[in-house]
Amino acid sequence: MKFLETFHFSATPEAPACTGQNWFGSASERPIISYSPVDGKKIGITGTATAADVEKVLATATEAFKLWRTVPAPKRGEIVRQMGDRFRKHKADLGALVSYEMGKSLQEGLGEVQEIIDICDFAVGLSRQLYGLTMHSERPEHRMYEQWHPIGTVGIISAFNFPVAVWAWNAMIAAVCGDVSVWKPSEKTPLSAVACMRIAAEVLRENQTPEGIMSLIIGDAATGEALVKDERVPLVSATGSTRMGKKIAQVVAGRLGRTILELGGNNAVILAADAELTQAIPSIIFGAVGTAGQRCTSIRRLIVHESIYEKTKEALVRAYSGLKIGSPLDEKNHVGPLIDQGAVEQMQTALKTAEAEGARKIFGGERLDGVSFESGCYVKPALVEAKADLPIAQDETFAPILYLMKYSGDVESAIAIQNSVKQGLSSSIFTQSFRDSEKFLSAAGSDCGIANVNIGTSGAEIGGAFGGEKDTGGGRESGSDSWKAYMRRQTSTLNYGKNTPLAQGIKFDV
Ligand code: UN1
Repeated sequence: MKFLETFHFSATPEAPACTGQNWFGSASERPIISYSPVDGKKIGITGTATAADVEKVLATATEAFKLWRTVPAPKRGEIVRQMGDRFRKHKADLGALVSYEMGKSLQEGLGEVQEIIDICDFAVGLSRQLYGLTMHSERPEHRMYEQWHPIGTVGIISAFNFPVAVWAWNAMIAAVCGDVSVWKPSEKTPLSAVACMRIAAEVLRENQTPEGIMSLIIGDAATGEALVKDERVPLVSATGSTRMGKKIAQVVAGRLGRTILELGGNNAVILAADAELTQAIPSIIFGAVGTAGQRCTSIRRLIVHESIYEKTKEALVRAYSGLKIGSPLDEKNHVGPLIDQGAVEQMQTALKTAEAEGARKIFGGERLDGVSFESGCYVKPALVEAKADLPIAQDETFAPILYLMKYSGDVESAIAIQNSVKQGLSSSIFTQSFRDSEKFLSAAGSDCGIANVNIGTSGAEIGGAFGGEKDTGGGRESGSDSWKAYMRRQTSTLNYGKNTPLAQGIKFDV
């Protein structure tokens, strides 16, 4: 496959650590083999960064920060601008690699690279902003203002489902803020990370930046732990399960570090009685089966008004029956494989549990066998009728299972169901009613970090702050003013007068 040649993946194992310009570490001791869920074939091998490799990366990053923080922000932005251009050049190849290694459709693989390009553009603009406020001092001949300074090394822990974009959300913003970053990608998608690092390294090398502006360490949970524990990493931005996030939060808080956590979601769409189904159904299907239900933002629960319940159910079953499942590199297919066979098992277990708890499967769910499905990772997306309080539906299953739930009464009852789970990432309502949409968006409405009207729960643009509340962890990444989490705020008061008055009118004469 041509895109594999572009990134020079070969039978030779890839080094597991990189400080931007230099690759090091051995792949032979604890090799990580990347198999494609598309066809089950081996794509390549990487290794596990040793404690010594992590040490070398962190020491290099710490040194690099000392210089990088002094480079004017617009100059840092210029390097990020070149990165955006380089990713534009590699969009087709990197998109295909993401699709092949992770299993998402080629369109979504390309979309993921587009998120990298978009965040680069955003970060370039930001590099001429990073604004602080000025305040009026209560003391005469005094000036008070705040400024934002770089914070240091940002540890980035990313998940398999967005193997490249989430790194860029963090690394590009960190870079313009004057921070350096160390990335620990999912061990399920290491080669997409290697490819990104190669592209970024080209640009760093051409600009003769110090080694260690952007680094990579490939490994397992222990490798991630080394990063999380280290006091030289003042900010850890992690994407993954709530269980993982709670552990990270404790370790980092224990050393008074900061975290940005983007953890599990359990996203719902409310279909109000006046929802336009022609608009809603395609959005729901993309949200539920896109990336084979493995986005944090995937639609998991559909809360439908009783008056349109049967109609909605029929439309969904009809649409699900027409879904084409198969290689995500073939653009006529809608749904690709799950990440691995373990994910297929988890989906099967969840479906069994749902039925044991009183839910009723009305479509799909089975594993697909046969010539096109040799990797054993393909499933038919499932539709399940369930009560709102079905225990298994309170948790996130990372698979294409959509629970259909009925509500009666006003929009408040639907919002109560939508908010009744522990997670709070994304949510949406389909309605033509101005009142109901405003209620959904009000303080008493959706409790999620993302709340949409007449749009599904997934597919957020990079310009907004991305993240959610409650068990989703509270972090915000990507657009808006998320950059503030990557910097330290300094408040300065300057006295240009001859006297030294004290604040609060305190008298202290000596
Ligand atoms: C994730 O699943 O962790 O909003 C990120 C979306 C994508 C990002 C998802 N832009 O679906």
